Formats: sequence, structure tokens, C-alpha cells
Amino acid sequence: MTETAPARVGDTLTEEKRAPDGAAGLTARPAGPLRGVATAPGDKSISHRALILGALARGVTDIEGLLEGDDVRRTAGAMRAFGARVERLGEGRWRIEGAGEFVEPDDIIDCGNAGTGARLIMGAAAAFPLTATFTGDASLRGRPMGRVLRPLGLMGAAWMGRQLDRLPLSLRGGGLRGIDYRLPVPSAQVKSAILLAGLGAEGETRIVEPVLTRDHTERMLRAFGAEVLVEDGDDGRAISLRGGQSLTAAPVRVPGDPSSAAFPLVAALITPGSAVTVTNVLLNPLRFGLFETLKEMGADLTIANIRDAGGESIGDITARHSPLRGVVVPEGRAASMIDEYPILAVAAAHAEGPTVMRGLGELRVKESDRIALMAAGLAACGVQVEEESEGLVVVGTARGNHEVAGGATASTHGDHRIAMSFLVLGLAARAPISVDEPGMIATSFPGFTRLMASLGARIDPL
Ligand code: S3P
Repeated sequence: MTETAPARVGDTLTEEKRAPDGAAGLTARPAGPLRGVATAPGDKSISHRALILGALARGVTDIEGLLEGDDVRRTAGAMRAFGARVERLGEGRWRIEGAGEFVEPDDIIDCGNAGTGARLIMGAAAAFPLTATFTGDASLRGRPMGRVLRPLGLMGAAWMGRQLDRLPLSLRGGGLRGIDYRLPVPSAQVKSAILLAGLGAEGETRIVEPVLTRDHTERMLRAFGAEVLVEDGDDGRAISLRGGQSLTAAPVRVPGDPSSAAFPLVAALITPGSAVTVTNVLLNPLRFGLFETLKEMGADLTIANIRDAGGESIGDITARHSPLRGVVVPEGRAASMIDEYPILAVAAAHAEGPTVMRGLGELRVKESDRIALMAAGLAACGVQVEEESEGLVVVGTARGNHEVAGGATASTHGDHRIAMSFLVLGLAARAPISVDEPGMIATSFPGFTRLMASLGARIDPL
């Protein structure tokens, strides 16, 4: 029997919003060691793509392990609005029936907090002769969309908005031509938007990425029957596809999100006596930068049970409490850990000596200005930190057995990863650490407080 899909997009009051986080904030208190086994929620990037490709394909796409966070639910709602049948069959089990094309939506597409949803859906929609209006929450309305609109414009799409490169805006698609485009910023969202638009364009679309970014769109397009050519050359990686290809529905098993697994794993690394295993974590090398860096810092991280899951490699990662030392993170690694710098900064606060993180201009245009918020929150918690225009240097407290003082409230500006990072810091600080606006945790990690509690963490409403 099928359970009906959540009534409407945007009405997804998850645990964080209802109970503990209905409060003004959450507080993490130092407690005993963290121990146990947990499963990370489904990968956010792959979940968005599964829904979008399922809606673009002809036939029935069954998805298992879909992340049921607010961001992805918005994308599910958007796919309904563009004409796909979207059903929730059970926990993480979703069925999409695509018609091979998008129809013009009756209403505005509200992508909530989701940059990935907004940018990929605009790319997909641009391939069809329709007009669609996109908006999002205050954070998303403040984020740059020109990076997607410029290439889509070169392909022949048109748009109109109150501001040049911000939501809300109306996009008119159809009649696209393929382009040859060199990515000016390392962004998988931009690459994916162009590829999805290119599917419906005339001729070939070719994208060169000087810095490699996550390749889930390329992999999934292939799994849905498209031909995608990938060539590595001196000036980067070229990805090309021929326009006019149609997609055929294919089952998708969504692996656990390494960006979410990072929170309980780093919590274990910094909390004395801890040993935590997170199972089914995606091990894609273009998403693995954090774990590489933590290893260089001396982290006791082991991966077991490596296996294949629908074209991606997954495994179970165990983290044990470890003395960490500061490192200089290679700038070239930034794209493979772009969402993980906040939690890396938390690990760095517990390391011995400085950890230098540079080449991070993109962090200023995420769900919040993550460089500024991490710097301010860490300083409030007694950690020595230097904010640079495109970087952050965190001087760890480990030398001489000092500890992170804590005893502060970190401002999150509604950023889920900032909130989770400071809650993790609070588990191993001398005094509790609080965060405001914790409801946003549900965008990427519904059940975060419950999962952390199952490992022994103390995180309570303010
Ligand atoms: C994502 C790409 C990254 C990342 C985001 C998810 C994706 O953004 O920060 O959380 O799924 O393609 P950029 O493409 O802007 O770097």
C-alpha cells in the first residue's frame, strides 16, 4: 500500500522544528564518551538529482534512502509542479513517474533554503518551452544565481527578476543551443545546471572544469541511459553531452551523506573515550577531502566493508578519539570538502597548533557567510581564530592541555551546518555551547539531535 506523499511542499515540520528546536535554540553540554553505530541520512546532492532525473526520464524511478530533509522535499514538490507523479512509499522510499518533459507549473516554485535544488531545477526547466518563477527563503534569495543564469542565457534562456542575479526570478526556457563553457567558479551546481539544460539543447554542450567538482550528475545521467563523455586534459576535465538525448527511468539507491556523517565522526574524534561508526557512507573521491585532511591531522579513522551501491562506492567509517595536530589544508582540496570547513574548524579547535584553511571564497556565499560565522562563534567560545577574506586560521587549544572554553551562544543565521558544527563543539568544551535557529538543521539532517543522543550526546532545548 502506498502512503500519500507529504501534503504540500514546505509543510515538513520535522523533529528539529517541532520539539526540541521549536525552542529558540539548542544547547550541547559536555558529557561522557560517544559510542555506538549510526546510519547517516541519505546524500543531499544525490537525493536532489534522483528526483530531478526521475522527473525528466520516461518511466518509473524507484528511489531508496532518499534524504527526507526540507531541501529535498522542496525539490520533490517542484517535480510535481513540473508534471511528474511523485509518491512517498515509505521511509526514504519514493517513486517518481516522469513523462520525459516538464510542463509549465501553475504556481511559483519555492526552493526554500536549497541552492542545489534551485540551480539544478532552473537548468532542467530551461530546456523546455515554459516560463517558471523561482523563489526561496531569505538566505537563498541572497545567494548569487548569475553563475547559472549567465551560461543558461548563452544557451538561449531568458529571465527577468527584480535584481540581476537573485531570486525571485522568472525563467523562460526552450529553443536552447549547446555551448562550450569553462566554469569560472568550481561549482557542481553550475556544471549540473548546464548539463541538464544541455540535454534538451540543439547540438553538443561541453563544460570544462579547471577544478574537479562532485560528479554525481554525470554518473546518474549515465545510469539513466545518457551518453556523457568525460576527458581529462591539461586545462582540466571536459564533460560533453549531445542534446536531444532522452532519459530512461532507473532505480536509485542513495548512499549516506559524508557531509552529514562528518558531524558524529568529528564529535567522536574530539570527545575523550569515544568510538563511533557511521555506516553506508558515500566514499566518492570528490567528496572525501575532509576525511583525508582529518587523517593528516592524526585522526584514527578506519573504513570497513567497502562496497558498490548503484555505481558509487560506500563504506562504514569508524572514528575514535584522537589527539589532533594542526595542518595546512591544500587549497586544491577545497572543492572536495567545500561543505565540511565548518566542522573541520571544530576539529581544528581541538588540535595542537594552527590549522590553515585558504582558497575558501565560496564559503562566503553558502547558506550563510560561513567564514564570518565560524570565526565569530569560535572566538566567542574562546578559540583563537583569524578571519581572512578567503580563509580561516584556527589555532587549536590542545597545546598544554588547554580546552575549548565554550559557554557562549553561536549565531547561525539559519545555517544548518553552522548549527551542527557548534553543537558538536559544545560536546567537548568546558562549558555548554548554544546555537540559535536550530530548525534549519532539518534541511539536511532530520533527526540529528536524536541520532547524536543515541550515541550518548547531550543536546537539549535552550
Ligand atoms: C552541491 C554542490 C556544492 C555544495 C552543495 C551541494 C551539489 O555547491 O556546497 O551543498 O549538490 O552540486 P557549489 O556547486 O555551489 O559549490
